[in-house]
Amino acid sequence: METVKDPNVMREKIQKARAESRVVGFVPTMGFFHEGHLQLMRRARSECDIVVVSLFVNPTQFGAGEDFEDYPRDFERDKQMAEKEGVDFLFAPEVEDMYPEGFSTFVEVEGLSKIMCGKYRPGHFRGVATVVTKLFNIVPAHKAYFGQKDAQQLAIIRRMVTDLNIPIEIVGVVTVREPDGLAMSSRNIYLTPEERKAATILYRALKTAVEMIEKGEKDASIIREEMKKLISEEPLVSLEYIEICDNIYLKPLQALSGKVLIALAARVGKARLIDNMLFDLG
Ligand code: PAJ
Repeated sequence: METVKDPNVMREKIQKARAESRVVGFVPTMGFFHEGHLQLMRRARSECDIVVVSLFVNPTQFGAGEDFEDYPRDFERDKQMAEKEGVDFLFAPEVEDMYPEGFSTFVEVEGLSKIMCGKYRPGHFRGVATVVTKLFNIVPAHKAYFGQKDAQQLAIIRRMVTDLNIPIEIVGVVTVREPDGLAMSSRNIYLTPEERKAATILYRALKTAVEMIEKGEKDASIIREEMKKLISEEPLVSLEYIEICDNIYLKPLQALSGKVLIALAARVGKARLIDNMLFDLG
């Protein structure tokens, strides 16, 4: 595996690979790898000739008072883990290379960026859309892999790629969970043992929704109320939102049909956790 820091060098290497008819797969990340990240790498490895992973803790997607400084980082460990997965290139630029003095262009996916997590993290998705556009220009891959865990991010990136005619196929990969159901996240490291236990209520609430849907419940508000009630019984968990919507426009649904996304966000101690489940009700 080769580590590349310079965006221009990175682009040249990918252009060369493409000229040699290699299929290039790309996994954008902020590092501190866990099984979720590794799953994306494995999927890319199984489908592509060349696998590129980017590792960049993107300052523009963190709001004032958020955890940019504290965000967990361990470059050597990440490097070893990526190498073990057979990654070809690890792109790890410096902030100054991505945002040199005078930087002033941003990508805004209107509508989708302002709802759900966007309400609680103003500017977050603008930062994500901007950095992902830059990364797609630096790593002109055929396919890019994103986790379903960040369902709103995935919807926004799909929208952006369509709207801006970016020639890359977006592949969504199912959420990897801990044995007790908690969705893996770099931010789980913020949880104390007590909070870690309490955080499983989020998965249990989603499971309750699955059970209700399996029993034929189609009323979104009844499902949401039941989930809210369950989460409210856990004092260490403070719910931000539960949204029941379609997975493309993220439009709230009253009656469940078609592809349904149930997404939630909550604060647990210092951590802000998100999770979701996707259903196809035909
Ligand atoms: P990061 O949080 O490091 O996540 C990188 C990728 O891993 C994302 O596509 C995310 O959805 C996926 N991922 C995280 N946890 C997962 C899990 N438990 N199961 C499956 N996939 C999981 O998301 C970002 O970085 C950034 O916003 C980024 C897109 C890199 C832009 O800076």
